[in-house]
Parts: sequence; C-alpha cells; structure tokens
Amino acid sequence: MSQAESAPPTSLIWVPAASEIAREAGARLREFFAQGVETEYKGDVDLVTVADRATEKLLHERLGQAFPDHGIYAEEGTRERLESEYRWYVDPLDGTTNFAHGFPQFCVSMGLEHRPVGTAPEEDGTLVAAVLYDPMRDELFTAERGRGAWLNGRPIHVSRTRELAESLVATGFPSRKRHQNPNIHFYQEFTLRSHGVRRAGSAALDLAYVACGRFDAFWEFKLNPWDTAAGILLIIEAGGRVTGFSGDPVRLDSREILATNGLLHSELLGFFDDMFAGRNLSPIPTPLEYARRRAARCQAPRTES
Ligand code: IPD
Ligand code: CA
Ligand code: CA
Repeated sequence: MSQAESAPPTSLIWVPAASEIAREAGARLREFFAQGVETEYKGDVDLVTVADRATEKLLHERLGQAFPDHGIYAEEGTRERLESEYRWYVDPLDGTTNFAHGFPQFCVSMGLEHRPVGTAPEEDGTLVAAVLYDPMRDELFTAERGRGAWLNGRPIHVSRTRELAESLVATGFPSRKRHQNPNIHFYQEFTLRSHGVRRAGSAALDLAYVACGRFDAFWEFKLNPWDTAAGILLIIEAGGRVTGFSGDPVRLDSREILATNGLLHSELLGFFDDMFAGRNLSPIPTPLEYARRRAARCQAPRTES
C-alpha cells in the first residue's frame, strides 16, 4: 500500500486537532504512570487518581480552546455547554484500575456526537469523530463518520473470523454493584466456546481492538458513554457492527454493548438469547465436585507406569 493510500484524508475536520490534544493528555498520563500515584475510592472498587482528574482538566482546557462551540461530557464531572450542536464524550483515563496497579493497559478516549438543533435531551445524535490514544504503545486510533478508521494513520478493518469457535473475544466487569452482575456466567460460556476471552481492563481499548481486528468481538454490561463513544464509531468505520444484546440499535446510554466484526453478530445474538433463556449451557464441575474427584485421585493407589 502506498503512503498516499494509507494516510488519512487531509480534509478531516476534527481528528487532526483532537489527536494533538489526545497525545498531549497521553504524555501527561505517561508521566504520572512513571512516578506512581495515590489511589482513592469513588465507590466499592471504583478507583480514581490524581491522573484522572489532572488529565480531564487538561482535556477540558484544550478542547475548549480548539472547539470553543463544542460541549464536553467527561467522566470526572466536566459538564460544559451541553446545549451545543456538538458534544465530546471524554474518558481522560480508561483503565484506572490498571493504571493504579502499574499494569500498562489504559488510554484517553474522546468521541464526538453531532446533535442537530431540535435533538431532544433523551435522544442520541450521530457519532462523527473518534480519537483514542494508548500512550504506552504510542497507538492513536482515529475515525470520522463516512471517512474510515485509522491506527497511527494507517486504515484499519475488523477481522474476517466467521465463527465464535475461532474467535478471540473480550469483556470487562463493572466496578459498582458487582454482586448484581451476571457477566461471569457469560465469561464462562464464551471461554468454553471460543479461542479465549481477554479481560484487559480498558473497555475503550477493547473496542478499538475490535476495530483493528485484534479481537473478533467484545461485550460488556453497564458501560458509560465516555467508555464507548469513540470505540463505537471506530468499529462502524472499520466495517463492524455494534448493538445491544438483543440486536437493538446501540445508544450512548444503552449501558450494554455487543460489538463484533459483523460476520459473528447473528451467532452472538443467538448466544445471548440462549444465555438469557438458560439454554444450551456447557456443564463444568463445581469446585466441590472437582474437590471430591481430586481427593479420590489422591487416595487411589499409584500404579507403576
Ligand atoms: C472502566 C474500564 C473497564 C470496564 C469498566 C469501566 P475506568 O473504566 O473501561 O474495562 O470494565 O466497566 O468502568 O473506570 O477505568 O475509566
Ligand atoms: Ca472508563
Ligand atoms: Ca476513566
């Protein structure tokens, strides 16, 4: 592929300025990561650090300078110009738990929604730009609606895997109300039916990885628009599909999300139907059953081989 073919079009509207901002924010995160930061609790096991807050402040300032008419809706509390025609959903640090433990898997995620005049507060507009930066790998994922998706300036595409049995998939678990969430059952069943499930701790990066074909699918319960806005557009522009667990169109406040390369989507919707109906589940031993078999093995006399 020639340089000209692989580079994003020079006429992109929002990606160039937003990419510079994401890189600057990522550089701040890298510094904080190197020096180590104190962790606070926002809830149960919901962590926050000075890095989340300082990076959000930086993004708030920089987005305000670059796009003075745009609104901002960010995880650590920024709510700015929400009546605007354009609105950024910002996660200054997606993967805080990883960050706090020195596990180098996190990113800055920014998705831009167009909300034409007259859009009701409870209605979604259209996602039009995505910028997501992983500062540890220096990987910048970008997209604009109808123009394509890129990783460090090279076009990306979802995978071509056709069956769950040949797929690598990903998920995550909420940090609030953990005892009310059934995802571990889905994790178990997906593990038994695929090449494996990765739970790497940054939903935004997981979505970007579906967009570039590293994962074939991703699902999660209870995400927020700042986790998903950028990733949804990346996947759509990279040729994939994103819905709720019943195939309903994904909304920014949907919470649940099923993202695939498109080829796997109907199989996975059937899988979710089965799971919610308790059908076709693969049996595995309980720890107690396993312990009994293990004890029986230990007591059995050894045979000479
Ligand atoms: C979290 C991460 C994680 C997902 C959680 C999110 P945060 O975001 O995306 O992968 O499983 O549900 O809350 O708190 O690190 O920004
Ligand atoms: Ca997040
Ligand atoms: Ca965050």
